[in-house]
Amino acid sequence: MTRQATLKIPRPTDGDLAPPAAGADRFVPGPGAHRRLRDAFGRFATGVSIVTTNSAIGPLGMTANSFSSLSMDPPLVLWAPARKSRRFAAFTEAPHFAIHILAHDQRAMALHFATQGHDFAGFDTVESVTGVPLLAGCLSIFECTLEAVHVGGDHAIVVGRVQVVQTTEGAPLVFGSGRFGGFDPHLVDTHRPR
Ligand SMILES: Cc1cc2nc3c(=O)[nH]c(=O)nc-3n(C[C@H](O)[C@H](O)[C@H](O)COP(=O)(O)O)c2cc1C
Repeated sequence: MTRQATLKIPRPTDGDLAPPAAGADRFVPGPGAHRRLRDAFGRFATGVSIVTTNSAIGPLGMTANSFSSLSMDPPLVLWAPARKSRRFAAFTEAPHFAIHILAHDQRAMALHFATQGHDFAGFDTVESVTGVPLLAGCLSIFECTLEAVHVGGDHAIVVGRVQVVQTTEGAPLVFGSGRFGGFDPHLVDTHRPR
C-alpha cells in the first residue's frame, strides 16, 4: 500500500474563471475583492437582532444579523461576533445573554446598538433573573446560556442554549444589501410553501 500524497486543492485565479452571466460580477475572493465579497454576502436578506449581556462594566448590547436558529432539541441558536469588535471578549465570555429579534419599527434601536453598546437610556428594559437586560417591543427574545464558541475565521460562532423564550406577533425588521426594509410576502406569492 502506498500512502497518498496530501491532496492539494488548486486555488483558481480570476483569469481561470468562465465569463460571468450578463450583468453579474464573478471573482475569486481575496485581499483585493473584500468589498465585492461583502456585497455578495449582503444579498442574503436577514432579520435583525440585538444581543445583550451583563458585562463586567455593565449592560452591553450589539446589533447582529448573523443570528440563526440552530437546533430544536436541544433548543440552540447561534450568532457571530467579529474578532475585531471591541465587544468581542465580553460577548464570547458571557455565561448568559439574550437575543432580541427586532420588529419593523425598531430600526433606530438597531442603529443605536451598532454604534455603541453601553447606552441603554431611552429604551425600556427589564432585567432577566440572570441580570441580562431585556429590551421591550421585540418580536422574540431568546434568553440563553453559553453552550459553545467555535472558530469562524475573523468571527467566532457563539452557540447559545435557549432557556426562556418570549414572543409576540408583529412584522420583522429586514436587512439586505446594506439597507433596512420590511417583509412583504405579497411580493412573491400568497401560497403556503409545500
Ligand atoms: C444590521 C447590522 C448587522 C450587524 N451584524 C453583525 C454581526 O452579526 N456580527 C458582528 O460582529 N457585527 C455586526 N454588526 C456590527 C456591530 O453591530 C457593530 O457595529 C460593530 O461591532 C462595531 O464595532 P465595535 O463593537 O468595536 O464598537 C452589524 C451591524 C448592523 C448595522
